Amino acid sequence: MCGIVGAVAERNITAVLVEGLKRLEYRGYDSAGVALLNEAGELDRRRRVGKVSELEAALKAEPLPGRVGIAHTRWATHGAPSERNAHPHFSGHQLAVVHNGIIENHDALRDQLKSLGYSFSSDTDTEVIVHLLDHTLKSEPDLTAALKVAVKQLHGAYGLAVISAKQPDRIVAARSGSPLVIGLGLGENFLASDQLALRQVTDRFMYLEEGDIAQICRDEVQIWDIDGKAVKREQVQYHEGAEAADKGEYRHFMLKEIHEQPSVVQRTLEGRLADDHVLVQAFGPQAADIFAKVKNIQIVACGTSYHAGMVARYWLEELAGIPCQIEVASEFRYRKVVVQPDTLFVSISQSGETADTLAALRNAKDLTPEQGGYLASLAICNVGISSLVRESDLTLLTLAGPEIGVASTKAFTTQLVALMLLTLAMGRVRGTLDPQLEAELVAELRRLPTRLGEALAMDAVVEKVSEHFSEKHHTLFLGRGAQYPVAMEGALKLKEISYIHAEAYPAGELKHGPLALVDADMPVVTVAPNNELLEKLKSNLQEVRARGGELIVFADEKAGMSNGEGTHVVNMPHIHDALAPILYTIPLQLLSYYVAVLKGTDVDQPRNLAKSVTVE
Ligand code: F6R
Repeated sequence: MCGIVGAVAERNITAVLVEGLKRLEYRGYDSAGVALLNEAGELDRRRRVGKVSELEAALKAEPLPGRVGIAHTRWATHGAPSERNAHPHFSGHQLAVVHNGIIENHDALRDQLKSLGYSFSSDTDTEVIVHLLDHTLKSEPDLTAALKVAVKQLHGAYGLAVISAKQPDRIVAARSGSPLVIGLGLGENFLASDQLALRQVTDRFMYLEEGDIAQICRDEVQIWDIDGKAVKREQVQYHEGAEAADKGEYRHFMLKEIHEQPSVVQRTLEGRLADDHVLVQAFGPQAADIFAKVKNIQIVACGTSYHAGMVARYWLEELAGIPCQIEVASEFRYRKVVVQPDTLFVSISQSGETADTLAALRNAKDLTPEQGGYLASLAICNVGISSLVRESDLTLLTLAGPEIGVASTKAFTTQLVALMLLTLAMGRVRGTLDPQLEAELVAELRRLPTRLGEALAMDAVVEKVSEHFSEKHHTLFLGRGAQYPVAMEGALKLKEISYIHAEAYPAGELKHGPLALVDADMPVVTVAPNNELLEKLKSNLQEVRARGGELIVFADEKAGMSNGEGTHVVNMPHIHDALAPILYTIPLQLLSYYVAVLKGTDVDQPRNLAKSVTVE
């Protein structure tokens, strides 16, 4: 994923920019570059394909000191990874830009700018921004004012920063769909796409909001909102302990990571949504071409990631109308599979290093077209520099940040978000998704972080419910439709960290066997959103109550379910049915967490388990 760093100071800032880029390396990238106004006030740059260390070596061989500069790590979306496509991009020798996100109308703008005499030196969408700004400067010579005008013509998503040799006292920046944060120093100020990049220089931050334009000078920062009104954004002081590798105020990493879900889901969405649709280019430069040819999908993953894939199968078939198969990687890798023509191979993994998942990908890639090979491979992964990402044709990174607790939580919900983006992108490219439903789901995705926050606010209620489990040895989890894999994930969480035996069943299967297990010592946990399967689910729950089983039901507030003898109902905020699997995961995570705490187990490092399973 692309990263931005910028600085305006009285000192030489080259090292600050390079260090900032290094701190963003974990997100994955294919090239890096830096542009500064040098001692003579001229714009100069260095760009390299590969690691930031290669850019650093280039800067050592040919130093580029300066006091105003911008830097970038690029993850290719338009144009292959190459030095000419790496940012910063220039317009003449006056203007430089770095950009995260995707400009959708770049083709039209490119034609327009070419007719005005601009020539392009890259294949990127980004280059249109810098020429457009240069053209705007002809009628509006102030850089900040010109940026305000120019961004109005950009469609898509962007977080961008610009420097100009003509106004060397500032960086100007704009945010729409891709995050930017200003770091405040003493007599110097900074900019980045993630505050992590600036921790070495400041602990005071100001987050830009959607539509904001900022002018960052050494002694002053000015911000205008989407309506052009001057605004002040709150200053936030970073406290030690907000770090991923620190539990902060939380008792366990797992609880901290559960509570991080609204923000990491937000991050996973950023830069990938236009007004009413998903930006297909977010999956990589060849995504639109590849997706247009896909007729089938094969998903492969392990554990929690496998459960995410199971949810995605419901979505892909129901919303995008595309046939989808899913299998655990440890089985798939040793099986002779029959590959349907034009099948996209999708692997899902938090770490990107899971041995079985990697082996399955490698086997899939080894198949020749005569053996019925796959069309292409796509990795949904949380680690940008992992083997899975390096070896796949397309990637969509989940941006959950480092997950320390062994039991996966925020990785799962961000995988679900990524898979919903895949579903919407597939439906769009294939023309199988109703545009109105597409727009509705995009709007719901935007509201999702707030909904997750509401579910997390039920923490104390779920903690109380957990008391029903501390003396129990077995539990049943039930769900129907896309909530069945959510029930599976809830059962996996409970067994992993509390060591209580937990099984998940599609609720309709109850009467075909597991009902025999139900008695007063076997609590039954159910997820019950308000969908067309609700009435059937209610009948299944009656079957449990009739056998004396205790029910714990997480139900939509509009589902009309209430507490009664042996039935404990926890009301959930209402949500669009398609996104319910993401929301209903939250109380199940909290439940397993509080049961484990009551039982006194090692929540973050449960016995016999490892975070990354890199061996068979
Ligand atoms: C469960 C859990 C595991 C992993 C599985 C795959 O909480 O974390 O089941 O999901 O080992 O790992 P990744 O996603 O790294 O491939």
